[in-house]
Amino acid sequence: MTARLTHVDLFAGVGGFTLGFEATGRYRTALMADSDYSAALTFKRNRPQARYWPKDLSKVAVDELLGTAELEPEEIDVLTAGPPCQGLSKVGARLLDDPRNQLLKHTAELIGATRPKLAIIENVPSLWWDEHSELFAELSDALDREGYDLDMQVLEAWRFGVPQLRRRLFILATREDIEHRSTKRFPEGRELDRFTARDLIRAAENGEPLYPPGLSVEEAIGDLPTIPAGGGKEAMAYDGEPTSDYQRARRGDTDILFNHRARAHSAAMLKKMEMIAEGGRNQELADEQRLRSADGEYFSQAYARLHRHGIAQTITTYFQNPGSGRFIHYRDLRALSVREAARFQSFDDDFMFTGKFEQQMRHVGNAVPVLLAEHLAEHCAAILTGERSGENDLVANGPGSR
Ligand SMILES: C[S@@+](CC[C@H](N)C(=O)[O-])C[C@H]1O[C@@H](n2cnc3c(N)ncnc32)[C@H](O)[C@@H]1O
Repeated sequence: MTARLTHVDLFAGVGGFTLGFEATGRYRTALMADSDYSAALTFKRNRPQARYWPKDLSKVAVDELLGTAELEPEEIDVLTAGPPCQGLSKVGARLLDDPRNQLLKHTAELIGATRPKLAIIENVPSLWWDEHSELFAELSDALDREGYDLDMQVLEAWRFGVPQLRRRLFILATREDIEHRSTKRFPEGRELDRFTARDLIRAAENGEPLYPPGLSVEEAIGDLPTIPAGGGKEAMAYDGEPTSDYQRARRGDTDILFNHRARAHSAAMLKKMEMIAEGGRNQELADEQRLRSADGEYFSQAYARLHRHGIAQTITTYFQNPGSGRFIHYRDLRALSVREAARFQSFDDDFMFTGKFEQQMRHVGNAVPVLLAEHLAEHCAAILTGERSGENDLVANGPGSR
């Protein structure tokens, strides 16, 4: 057996990156680190053998990091990092001076000092845009000074078997002395751009859903039991068989359904949600029916309902709030359950989210989709070894496959 590659995951959350790297069978994750204890506890509950360092990385010196990982400089093959993006995200205030954004610079310093062969930094695409270009330039200058060549690409999760329209920026930093043994700079997702996301949503809203190029909402979550708002349990039984390859793959051998719990809504909210048809949204209601903010404005993008044949939109940390996006279940009168959101993020069903409800939401919404991470991990292995395992050949796999 060939030796496994060494991986370190910084700002690891509940381990979207790590689970994808693990799924390839080609890596040993020497260390995960994050300041969120509840994320560390969740991961350790699922993988008791993992070395997870619950630590504020802004205060970490390189010696301490390498010492905890029991590694020397240059021993890491791939370092992944998902520094927080709240200050940058399009959702919420964009604050360039958010101290969390300084973590990007510190990430570059940690990369420079630990000297992994490859590093992947994940962030929101707006890091690359106008008002953030200064921050992006600082990051790329810092990595350049540390002796790294950079490639950037916005990857769309749905092209990689993830049932979701999530777009994220990935920065691939390659140490100057490492020769790329793959001809591709980034993994290539399925080329299925017959429809844009907008086409899909518009078609679903017009009641003429196009079959999405990736996996539909129903293929992703249609087998999960009907539960009322405020209902469901942390552990329950499935009540039917899986009906798609994707559902079968996520279930694996699990016979307990974890985290299928949805938040309660007020009677007034339930009444409003009832008026929104499958695939519809607040904006389409008659003027007097629309949900409005305190100043009388109605929310055009909010209070939207999924369509069973549509594709899920980005799962954020607010997916239990119908006012924050298209998070109303297509069939049940409620926002998505934690397990449904986890399905859209391509976590396997045996991965259990522990902690409080709010923590579970944060952990699911923050994660890198596991299947996308798996493709990135395969790609990094191909860069370093020149070999692909072939398991991730998206062209050969039809929609609905892993
Ligand atoms: C976008 S999430 C990363 C998600 C992760 N890559 C995954 O796939 O689950 C950002 C993470 O940064 C962590 N974080 C924020 N500030 C931190 C700090 N100062 N030190 C360490 N971790 C921090 C948060 O707790 C959060 O888990």
